[in-house]
Amino acid sequence: MDKTDIKALDREYVANTYGRADVVFVEGKGAEITDDEGRKYIDLGAGIAVNVFGAADPVWVAAVTAQVSKLQHMSNLYYTEPCVKLAKLLCERTGFKKVFFGNSGAEANECAIKTARKWAFDKYGDESHSTVITLKNSFHGRTVTTLAATGQDAFHTKFGPFTKGFVHASAQDAEEVRALADRGDCCAVMLELIQGEGGVVPLTREYVDEVVKIARERDMLIIVDEVQTGNGRTGTLYAYEQFGFMPDIVSTAKGLGGGLPLGACLMGERVEHTLGRGDHGSTFGGNPVSCAGAISILERIDDKLLEGVRRKGEYIKRALEGAKGVKSVTGMGLMVGILTDRPAGEVAKAALEKGVIVLTAHEKVRLVPPLTITDEQLEKAVEILKEVIGE
Ligand SMILES: Cc1ncc(COP(=O)(O)O)c(C=O)c1O
Repeated sequence: MDKTDIKALDREYVANTYGRADVVFVEGKGAEITDDEGRKYIDLGAGIAVNVFGAADPVWVAAVTAQVSKLQHMSNLYYTEPCVKLAKLLCERTGFKKVFFGNSGAEANECAIKTARKWAFDKYGDESHSTVITLKNSFHGRTVTTLAATGQDAFHTKFGPFTKGFVHASAQDAEEVRALADRGDCCAVMLELIQGEGGVVPLTREYVDEVVKIARERDMLIIVDEVQTGNGRTGTLYAYEQFGFMPDIVSTAKGLGGGLPLGACLMGERVEHTLGRGDHGSTFGGNPVSCAGAISILERIDDKLLEGVRRKGEYIKRALEGAKGVKSVTGMGLMVGILTDRPAGEVAKAALEKGVIVLTAHEKVRLVPPLTITDEQLEKAVEILKEVIGE
């Protein structure tokens, strides 16, 4: 099938929800992806922060294929080894107590929200404390509930009625969080420490400190959405480690599965017993193939890799700050946002034409490359990007 056929079939049969770039990708190796005409690209997008070890990483492929050829799926009515091994690994690496597995970021957030509400229900005996505070400009997913959680008006039309019980506070002014907490009906505050889809906007340490203080004083849970920031992306296993506090709940997905669908909701001490039998579930959650792949990823997100993530992130910042056409560079580790004079969409299109895959987030160019991208690949891609941004 050639590109014209694929595009025609996509137009005819695939729901028209995506604006796709004019390229068909067929294979890859690490941070190098090849299109249907054999042209090679340097990947600074990693399938939106998913392929943390790049394409067709041999260790991950071996783990996945070994498991898929033994048992590809079994329901959660029975035990499987990869699921429990991954849960243990996640808990040991983080200090969390229990894990619920789903298949995506939105599902991880659904579980986080359900856990917080159930915690409050158990405590107060009713739904009087079911409200969750989230931040303006946040993004938490595409289900009806996680859209309601998302703090962007653009996502609050067309699909109503939305799930009730979400209020949105400014990501700059902790007093707004305090005022909402003072209403007395909130069970949790939910944060992305770097607002990813919102334009790679990190929260400040002072703001986060204040929000954590308010949550603790008002006996609210702290949920951190690490769907995008997690699994080594920002230079630590999870971004909250760099903000000096321990959340009660962390949701994560994207990079965790290394390219297969997998989401996880990590539950701390205060909520480890909140969900009981029948309170939540997922047919595919904890799928043995996804979990086997994830173990092979998590085991290799070690100090050396994380040091490399921080170093490469600093390199990108140094190379782009002050470059022609660059207004600002934000982010942490290998999660970088670039505000450019040219519209971000134009930059992404031009970069693709020159063999570099980049993403956009709001008005910014967004870079979330595989964590294992080589220095040489990164230098080459950044040079091309600089050229394109400066045009
Ligand atoms: C912070 C954050 N939360 C949740 C989601 C939703 O994840 P998914 O698309 O896997 O449902 C995303 C996706 O971009 C995200 O960046």
